[in-house]
Amino acid sequence: MGMNKFVEEIIKIVSKEVSLPAEEISGLIEVPPDQRLGDYAFPCFTLSKKLRRPPNQIAKEISARLKATELIPEIYSIGPYVNFKVNRGKLAEFVLTKIFDQGDDYGSDKVGEGKTIVIDFSSPNIAKPFGVGHLRTTVIGNALYLIFKKLGFNVVRINHLGDWGTQFGKVILAYKMWGDEKELLKDPISTLYDLYVRFHQEAEKDPKLEDEARVWFKKLEEQDKEAEALWRKFRDFSLQEFKRVYRMLGIEFDSYAGESFYNKFMDQTIEKIKSKGLAQVSQDALIVNLERFDLPPCLLKKKDEATLYATRDIAAAIYRYNTYHFYKSLYVVGSAQKLHFQQVFKVLELLGYRWAKDCVHVDFGWIKFKQKMMSTRKGNIILLEDVLNRSIQLAREIIEKKNPDLEDKEEVAKEVGIGAVIFADLATRRNKDIDFDWDQVLSFEGESAPYVQYTHARLCSLLRKYGKPIGKKINCNVFSTEEEWSVIKLLQDFPRRVKSAAESYEPAFICSFLNDLSSTFNRFYQKHRIITRDAESTSARMLLVKAIQVTVKSGLSLLGIRAPERM
Ligand code: ARG
Repeated sequence: MGMNKFVEEIIKIVSKEVSLPAEEISGLIEVPPDQRLGDYAFPCFTLSKKLRRPPNQIAKEISARLKATELIPEIYSIGPYVNFKVNRGKLAEFVLTKIFDQGDDYGSDKVGEGKTIVIDFSSPNIAKPFGVGHLRTTVIGNALYLIFKKLGFNVVRINHLGDWGTQFGKVILAYKMWGDEKELLKDPISTLYDLYVRFHQEAEKDPKLEDEARVWFKKLEEQDKEAEALWRKFRDFSLQEFKRVYRMLGIEFDSYAGESFYNKFMDQTIEKIKSKGLAQVSQDALIVNLERFDLPPCLLKKKDEATLYATRDIAAAIYRYNTYHFYKSLYVVGSAQKLHFQQVFKVLELLGYRWAKDCVHVDFGWIKFKQKMMSTRKGNIILLEDVLNRSIQLAREIIEKKNPDLEDKEEVAKEVGIGAVIFADLATRRNKDIDFDWDQVLSFEGESAPYVQYTHARLCSLLRKYGKPIGKKINCNVFSTEEEWSVIKLLQDFPRRVKSAAESYEPAFICSFLNDLSSTFNRFYQKHRIITRDAESTSARMLLVKAIQVTVKSGLSLLGIRAPERM
């Protein structure tokens, strides 16, 4: 349970009558799903086991004995729970003052201080189109970066580019046979991808090509000048295009050490695995047998001696530990690679690395497109850039209809269009598949970035309309409506939500928080006037408005989404 002074007070009250250590009590306290049940609850199941008596009976007895205080004026039992109600005025004062003082820092924490988290995300493959298949890893990874940073962690963003492997022998060979420099310059990735596709078509007719391609990859591995120059060119061009998309999304990386970077560690990695007696030859390939863990063998080297994806991931993990001494090393990669990471982590464990347990595969489901929505430049691969541009265009059209006089229309269209795509992706829990539906993605009605952004703009417009400076000295007893109370409780819960999003690697928790906060505020806004002649109530409600605005903006920023002030 996230600590605030109300929870602390409850722990103090409970520990006077219950013989459990404070930390254990703190771990047990929960927020009841229905507000009417109370603000916090202490379940008596643990005590029931210990005392061998029914939990309902224990709850009843304890609640009779516990003494109410100023912060916690009501204590009563419901079934197996002891329930607590907090002093609303005090809570409002506490939360609103805190947000006022902390501003954009509200929700931040020091839990991560001195700890490093490495996040491997996005990691597209060079010479291939940057497709929508890489959207999830890209935005989930970036959101986790922002969330962990908020909690004080030192976060390292790594783009483990797919820039090595036998396929580059094919691309080099194809380029040498059919390539054209001018075309390459004009549209590098498409050109390379076409060459790659063509290679496979031709190789079906002429299997000798496969051998030739292997020779080219061998050359590349042996640092042949020509092979390396071509490969570097392909890599640079690809990277330029990837970076264009990253700029649109506002995403940066600390390292682009991709697969090729680990070449120099291949020999020593394989030596290490051999020296631990883990490697064996099977069907001419070098493998680690993982049968006793119910896993297929981890392939280290193929017949032709070329090293593999897994070998490079093993080397990369070791390198990352030696370089960053991470507290956690995350891999934001689709669930299709579950087995791969199980194998890699198992080999690391067998190598005796204590930190193998700190490597986490943050997996996620597929993204599907509901409408066949757009022409794509590249066969059936939907380009990420096209999706973003399409979304910006739709946002532009909506703005043109709703608010044609808006200043900075173009900028806002970008913030809304891109935000919409990011939110649509993140709002779905990782393990679920996404049905990408443009109507929902760009809806202003709820569960979307435009809805939350629009709420933010509405809050900003109230602040502009009020026009006076916001003060933190207010009479909190003026908050009397159920809507105000709900919104204040949500605000106070923000720091805890950030933490649980981090603990479960689930940016979706922030999305649902923002949906709840927006809809609760909008309910309040529809029912009650905020700026009235009553100065005392107006200044209190404006402080509340400010607090919500700050929190919405800060929540969006944890997802990598901008919060325009006008829409
Ligand atoms: N390049 C891979 C792909 O696009 C993802 C790499 C993920 N990271 C890793 N360390 N294996 O499927």
